[in-house]
Amino acid sequence: MTQYSVAVLPGDGIGPEVTAEAERVLRAAGQRFDVSFTMSHVPIGAAGVASAGDPLPEETRAAVRRANAVLLGAVGAPGLEHAPRHLKPETGLLALRALLGVYANLRPVTVLAPLVDRSPLKPDRLEGVDVLIVRELTGGLYYGEPRGRDAAGSRAVNTLVYTVPEIERVARVAFDAARRRRRLVTSVDKANVLEVSQLWRETVTAVGCEYPDVRLEHLYVDYAAMRLVSDPAAFDVLLTENMFGDILSDEAAVLVGSLGLLPSASLGAGAGLFEPIHGSAPDIAGKGVANPIGAIASVAMLLRYGLRLPEAADAVDQAIRAVLDAGARTRDIAEPGAPAIGTREMGERIAGVVLKECGMRNAECGIEGRTSIPHSTFRIPHSPEAP
Ligand code: IPM
Ligand code: MN
Repeated sequence: MTQYSVAVLPGDGIGPEVTAEAERVLRAAGQRFDVSFTMSHVPIGAAGVASAGDPLPEETRAAVRRANAVLLGAVGAPGLEHAPRHLKPETGLLALRALLGVYANLRPVTVLAPLVDRSPLKPDRLEGVDVLIVRELTGGLYYGEPRGRDAAGSRAVNTLVYTVPEIERVARVAFDAARRRRRLVTSVDKANVLEVSQLWRETVTAVGCEYPDVRLEHLYVDYAAMRLVSDPAAFDVLLTENMFGDILSDEAAVLVGSLGLLPSASLGAGAGLFEPIHGSAPDIAGKGVANPIGAIASVAMLLRYGLRLPEAADAVDQAIRAVLDAGARTRDIAEPGAPAIGTREMGERIAGVVLKECGMRNAECGIEGRTSIPHSTFRIPHSPEAP
């Protein structure tokens, strides 16, 4: 039996609840496809500060260095917003991304038919929406130096910096993904104002010449934000720098109806990091009502891109879809006044489908061939091409 080690970092707020369900589904997929997972649980974020005085404790660094893949819940805690930077939960997440070198963050946004009415947008806008956001993750404003506040506290600075190699490598991820999709890359920048964006646009254009079969268009970020809700079906792969991608991916969540549904995969040269895009949601933490689907769909991405187990990944994606088709809804995606199930029940239902019904013969579960997450595979640098 193949064995993999997965570092599980539940983090803060609803992180532990949704991660527990993601793990349940990962175990079910392992059982079904004869793969065994060794999971090590280590703290990050406010949980790291509480246990070791560090949002990314040494124990956690060591565990992720040993792991084949990293599964994360969420970070962030009320009360730590004004903590010194080295004690902020978010600092732990940024340090983790840097440690793993995961420069390409993939955020697939696919509108599912049974949830069309959960979006505030008109149904005709949502037809066929299937966007893959490729967000640069280890550069830009989040990491640029110098940064900080002056002694009086009345002046603050952050630095937006990108180099050509940083832009090229994430652009290649976007073009490779587009090749396996609808062959369109939309690159987002603010080149009418920012020098960094001018370099971004030039570099992406040059990389695009290596992909004559993929169409490339450039949009200013303000216009891209508008197009994303006025004509979302016009996008295929949306390539962005770090902060623009953070903002546009939350906006894209409006298309699918809930932030709680969206997964992500962060990839680089080594082990990948897989996490839902939502935050720690302290207002609903511990109540058992959070939607675990973002975390569970992140497990599908972990199987697909992290461990190269496409059949197991398909089984998880199909199980999510089957359970939604059957009408299961957590509170965030239930119709007003309609009954909703909790975090655990949603996890159990999806794991149950992975174990018993889905996987090889979709017809048995009444699902068409299409899965909930687009099957864009692409080359991860320094590793063999996916089958
Ligand atoms: C995300 C989150 C993080 C980010 C925060 C928690 C640092 O919003 O993954 O989108 O800004 O990258
Ligand atoms: Mn965000």
